[in-house]
Amino acid sequence: MKDIPLVMASVMLFLLASVFISVAAQQRESTIIPGSSLEPITNSTWSSNSGLYAFGFYKQGKGYTVGIFLAGIPQKTVVWTANRDGQPVSDNSTLLFTNDGKLVLQSSIESQDFNIGHPLQSASSASMLDSGNFVLYNSSGRVIWQSFDHPTDTLLPTQRLLEDQQLVSSVSETDHSTGIFRLKMQKDGNLVQYPINTPDAAPYSYYASWVLGKGPGVTLNLGIGCHIYMLDHTGFNVKNITEGETSPKEEICLLRIDADGIFRVYSHNRDSWSIEWVSSNNTCDPKGLCGINAFCHSNVGSANCTCIPGYKFVNKGNWTGGCEKSFSADGCGNNGSFTYVIQEQQDTTWLDSPYSTLTLLSKKDCAQACLEDCNCETAIYDPDGSCKKQKLPLQYGRSPGDKAIVLIKVATSRYNRSDGFVPKEEKKMLRVDILIIGVSLAAFGLIMCGDQGNNDLVDIMIPFIIHASEEPGTTKFMRAAPDCCGWKPEEPPAKGFEQMTGSQA
Ligand SMILES: *[C@@H]1O[C@H](CO)[C@@H](O)[C@H](O)[C@H]1NC(C)=O
Ligand SMILES: *[C@@H]1O[C@H](CO)[C@@H](O)[C@H](O)[C@H]1NC(C)=O
Ligand SMILES: *[C@@H]1O[C@H](CO)[C@@H](O)[C@H](O)[C@H]1NC(C)=O
Ligand SMILES: *[C@@H]1O[C@H](CO)[C@@H](O)[C@H](O)[C@H]1NC(C)=O
Ligand SMILES: *[C@@H]1O[C@H](CO)[C@@H](O)[C@H](O)[C@H]1NC(C)=O
Ligand SMILES: *[C@@H]1O[C@H](CO)[C@@H](O)[C@H](O)[C@H]1NC(C)=O
Repeated sequence: MKDIPLVMASVMLFLLASVFISVAAQQRESTIIPGSSLEPITNSTWSSNSGLYAFGFYKQGKGYTVGIFLAGIPQKTVVWTANRDGQPVSDNSTLLFTNDGKLVLQSSIESQDFNIGHPLQSASSASMLDSGNFVLYNSSGRVIWQSFDHPTDTLLPTQRLLEDQQLVSSVSETDHSTGIFRLKMQKDGNLVQYPINTPDAAPYSYYASWVLGKGPGVTLNLGIGCHIYMLDHTGFNVKNITEGETSPKEEICLLRIDADGIFRVYSHNRDSWSIEWVSSNNTCDPKGLCGINAFCHSNVGSANCTCIPGYKFVNKGNWTGGCEKSFSADGCGNNGSFTYVIQEQQDTTWLDSPYSTLTLLSKKDCAQACLEDCNCETAIYDPDGSCKKQKLPLQYGRSPGDKAIVLIKVATSRYNRSDGFVPKEEKKMLRVDILIIGVSLAAFGLIMCGDQGNNDLVDIMIPFIIHASEEPGTTKFMRAAPDCCGWKPEEPPAKGFEQMTGSQA
């Protein structure tokens, strides 16, 4: 890589000269004419003049994908992907610049050919520019399509993120298909990060540039020297996200929303990438990193996900899938084979989406209110007295959180101890651990009636000794209840509940 500095120098000169595409510049560009084609193995790319960028096939998984990558550096970094959610193609695929001016990916795997470029106008030439922009021209030499207008997860110097456009993260460093985070340049001028498939609304956002009232027409720009800034529709600088460099450094820059949801500015010099700027140092900031029913906590700087009590990961090793019940129970629990308990998760925050908010309750009232309500799957209890009953899933969980406590209704089987039963070591963390049997205990020859007049839980609970093979200490208290939802809401709170929570704290 001895000639890197030379390449860089010429790149910088070229970038400066090629902001406006002129006929003169076109002659210095690599010009691709109709009839040209690329194949994954031989003639796989069209390079920019300097050799810094290349357009064409790159390896993805077992197949190939078409895109633009930095070819002039050892780390062949992908900066744009065509048809990013299409299947990788096989090595006998062809990218053809047809004589009627279409750029078509012909693959034996995909049933349909994929068209890159303008759907209506036909191109008479194409060029891979040294800025990293792949451009199609019509016969009058006008740009009719350019990759810079269709960013995926990366912005390059001189490229702009226009109003209403967004960058969307990739699945991973090596899989460039659509991931789960986005960076949106909003009409109102604010640049905001959200999880994918959410409304552009504050409860979902996890980063904002706070440029307000300057829209419409605000753009995000990456300048030479890794300077990121925002311009209004008149071209006036309304925000410097990073400090501008007085003299541009001779380096390669890119801005990318990474697979982990954080957007970073990278510079490349002396054969390695370094981070110039990050949108957040908290790897748990990106909402939804952990999937549903799980919360994120930072572990020595890197994010870690944990399921709420009673839940397990859908796919081990893939947080995106979130967590599902580790017990199998439908309905309210009055069918004889399972019972419900309330388990607690402290020190977390979640997206608020209660279907019912009760006020001025104690924690035990809140737990009971949820147990009594067949629709309630979880309740977020705030020590101020609010009790927000929610249906699952719980979303955007993060820890450390606030003083609110999440109460989770978990069913445990009476017979099959392998599913969902609270292990001994977990028990210490759980403040509330009341079992309700929504069953008749007729099978055991024990017919218990709920004590209607006296609501002292301890009085009406019978110790139920778990099968002898159970770990010692897992003795559970179960309550006989005549129907699914034992108590009526107007009943006063049970004293015994407090005693139990108190003694286990
Ligand atoms: C690669 O493309 C060039 C120019 O289009 C052509 O001359 C050459 O034969 C091609 N090589 C192969 C192996 O197809
Ligand atoms: C392309 O390769 C795949 C397997 O790699 C094969 O099944 C298919 O028949 C090939 N198609 C053509 C047109 O050669
Ligand atoms: C080329 O594109 C420009 C801009 O879209 C358009 O004005 C012009 O008519 C086009 N030329 C041809 C020959 O289609
Ligand atoms: C951003 O920085 C440039 C100098 O690099 C300065 O001219 C401009 O006023 C700054 N913009 C804001 C909004 O501070
Ligand atoms: C992880 O799970 C999600 C949702 O179930 C899925 O879309 C994604 O492809 C998985 N990712 C990996 C790397 O397996
Ligand atoms: C009780 O519910 C569970 C889970 O929904 C089900 O598998 C089981 O068959 C039911 N038992 C009875 C006795 O209805």
